[in-house]
Amino acid sequence: MTKIIAVAMQKGGVGKTTTAINLAAAFGEMGYRVLAVDLDPQCNLTQHAGFDPDNLSPTIYDAFKAEIEGYESNVQGSIYETDEKFHLLPAQAELSLIELALINTLSRERVLTTILGDVVNHYDYILIDCNPSLGLLVVNALTAASSVIIPIQTEYLAARGALMILSSIETVRRKKLNADLVIDGILLTMADTRTTLTRDILAAIDNQYGSGIRIFEPIVKRSVRFAESAVAGQSIIVYDSSSQGAEAYRQIAKQIAKGA
Ligand SMILES: Nc1ncnc2c1ncn2[C@@H]1O[C@H](COP(=O)(O)OP(=O)(O)O)[C@@H](O)[C@H]1O
Ligand SMILES: [Mg+2]
Repeated sequence: MTKIIAVAMQKGGVGKTTTAINLAAAFGEMGYRVLAVDLDPQCNLTQHAGFDPDNLSPTIYDAFKAEIEGYESNVQGSIYETDEKFHLLPAQAELSLIELALINTLSRERVLTTILGDVVNHYDYILIDCNPSLGLLVVNALTAASSVIIPIQTEYLAARGALMILSSIETVRRKKLNADLVIDGILLTMADTRTTLTRDILAAIDNQYGSGIRIFEPIVKRSVRFAESAVAGQSIIVYDSSSQGAEAYRQIAKQIAKGA
């Protein structure tokens, strides 16, 4: 059974792309067959994987365009091997047009599910890097996914509505778009310390949303190596294999793989 993980959070700069690529690399290192999907018109995952989104065709955009226009998407042609142990379904800037085009599309929430249907059996893990919104692309990701990881930049949680993504997940379940959607957990990123932060955040989540959402351990500490690895077009797993950051993502991938 393929596990499709959406990495989603409506705010930008919280570590979604970093989490998607590094979990993809960690699963790949473990020997699993992995596909990383860039569902953000900003194309950060595509760049992070070492590709130039301005000179890449076809991409996931072509697959969406085909489905919206009533053709078969044939996504296989838009999947690329990377220098690392995962495949990439990249994005291009025009993907931003899809958000609007979807509005008038039949079964508009299920287009990504259809697109991935052709290749889902080729992979053990599919990681979907979402754009920072609660729009139709994200709803497509939540509909296609078996589970969600929610990265949160640690200072951010105090703000009200920090976890609006949880309402979107609830809506997707309630509307039967994906009744079985599971939350893998909240991943705290860019943490400076571990002091009382985790406890405070747990309390805040319990307060607002009730208990039962796991906070991944270890939390991912702040390190300049992440930004460096993005510039180098490599996962941190390859860029700095023995770093604390690489080890944190490896441990989280192992927990997910164990179903723990
Ligand atoms: N643990 C971390 N420590 C320091 N910088 C990080 C960490 N995780 C991500 N970053 C950097 O923070 C920026 C935003 O991260 P990114 O994963 O692109 O967020 P998002 O996809 O949610 O917008 C990027 O420059 C990334 O390299
Ligand atoms: Mg991103």
